[in-house]
Amino acid sequence: MKETLFLTGATAGIGEALAITLSQQYNIILSGRNTEKLEALKAKCLTENSVYILPLDLSDLDKLEKNISSFLSENQLTVQKFVHCAGFMKMVPLKLVSQDLILETFKTNVFSANTIIKLLTNKKANNSALNNVVFISSNISNRGAKAMSTYGSSKAALDGLMRSLAVELAPKVRVNSVLPGAVITEMTKSIFENEEVSQRMSAQYPLGIGLPKDIAEAVSFLLSEHSRWMTGEQITVDGGRSVNITG
Ligand SMILES: NC(=O)c1ccc[n+]([C@@H]2O[C@H](COP(=O)([O-])OP(=O)(O)OC[C@H]3O[C@@H](n4cnc5c(N)ncnc54)[C@H](OP(=O)(O)O)[C@@H]3O)[C@@H](O)[C@H]2O)c1
Repeated sequence: MKETLFLTGATAGIGEALAITLSQQYNIILSGRNTEKLEALKAKCLTENSVYILPLDLSDLDKLEKNISSFLSENQLTVQKFVHCAGFMKMVPLKLVSQDLILETFKTNVFSANTIIKLLTNKKANNSALNNVVFISSNISNRGAKAMSTYGSSKAALDGLMRSLAVELAPKVRVNSVLPGAVITEMTKSIFENEEVSQRMSAQYPLGIGLPKDIAEAVSFLLSEHSRWMTGEQITVDGGRSVNITG
């Protein structure tokens, strides 16, 4: 029987590429906050497989479990694959970082993933059907950058969660992360619109700036049997940016 994949962050650049690529292989649940964008994306997924939409605010942790389990039971679905692509990124220098920013970032990027995996490994809610998880982290997870302490630490926490769950949930569930470098999407569009910044960044990427499809291909590999002996890994997909020490 065809497996079902649950995708968060489906409404933006990388999520859209994931939805279009992965809906060819799996029944798919597209999640985000923007219902109009979810409907439009559903229409773009030209596939024989079933496509569902589930509007959710991931930062509303209190309602998350109930909303997802009601949706699964109403649609008589069990989920085997989970891809957490939703991300909240705001560049803020430390002196302006607030408790609210830290909480919103960590709820969306990390805590929601924890809650969803707990639910999808639960017998009653999902028949313990989950067998594969991929987190969309970031290459900042292992590095540092100005004004990125909140976002960067949330992605490092996400990868910490990934490693511990990879061990705890083995052998039934594999858990890995993909760490993109700069990919052109809504989140980064404003950065690339600045000619000087765009040129400076492009020069740091031996293979140039990435496209959402580059990330989707790596995720597709991690979800497939081709990676059956991989778990607890960070796969960096950044056109060589993080190994480039050219002065
Ligand atoms: N683009 C890059 O260069 C880059 C580089 C490294 C890592 N990443 C990571 O890749 C992922 C996707 O990036 P992107 O550039 O495609 O993203 P983006 O344009 O910023 O969009 C973020 C996505 O997350 C969802 N989201 C944000 N807050 C949410 C919340 N509270 N509840 C539910 N959904 C929420 C948004 O849904 P709605 O709009 O529907 O609310 C949207 O689908 C993120 O995790 C990001 O950190 C991106």
